[in-house]
Amino acid sequence: MTETFKIALDGPSGSGKSTLAKNLAKHYGFVYIDTGALYRTIGLFVAERGIASDDREAIVACLPDINIEMKLENGGGVVYLGGKRIGNEIRTPLCSKYASDVSKIPEVRAFLLETQRDIAKKNNVIMDGRDIGTVILPDAQVKIFVTASIEARAKRRFAELQERGDSATYEEVLADMKWRDANDKNRNIAPAVPAEDAVMFDNSGLNVEETLSAAIEIIDKVIKV
Ligand code: DC
Repeated sequence: MTETFKIALDGPSGSGKSTLAKNLAKHYGFVYIDTGALYRTIGLFVAERGIASDDREAIVACLPDINIEMKLENGGGVVYLGGKRIGNEIRTPLCSKYASDVSKIPEVRAFLLETQRDIAKKNNVIMDGRDIGTVILPDAQVKIFVTASIEARAKRRFAELQERGDSATYEEVLADMKWRDANDKNRNIAPAVPAEDAVMFDNSGLNVEETLSAAIEIIDKVIKV
């Protein structure tokens, strides 16, 4: 089998990673994989069972009951839980918190590892997450770590939630983002930090189109070498 092309896109929440990843996937004709959706889905499962997000033992104990799959649909990965297609129900503040907490558990990360690697073995991918360049695809040909100031990220997330009719205030969104930054960055396993060979990309002052052009420039340099 010929080697696939892998682009790892890591960074904190609200950095615009997922919008950028979707646009890049379209531009290059690659498959888009949102790995956060896998952690969110585990979070949803655990929350629905009434288990606390920090109850590691209970969470690990229910992993064998979780049948999670990533299927390809229209050029992107879609998560299925127990055969049921997962959509926006994982995009709630509760699932964000659960996802961030369950993602600190080594058994949960190990549980989701092959699902992620498998797709990248068979397809050219743009994979967005926290540890793609460091753990999941250390051999990715391009690694980009996307950042933006916390205020810029909170503003974007706030606008997104408002559009969806969510009543969260900007202050709540900002506080939630600060908590999640620290929780994701300071964990012992696969912390959300850039790979040594990642290109750092701060898009604080850039809109969606400018972010896409700048990223294409970074990637094309590698592709054309
Ligand atoms: O990208 P996101 O906000 O949907 O991710 C939700 C949580 O999942 C995030 O707070 C940390 C965790 N996560 C992770 O640990 N590793 C990944 N590759 C993707 C997400």
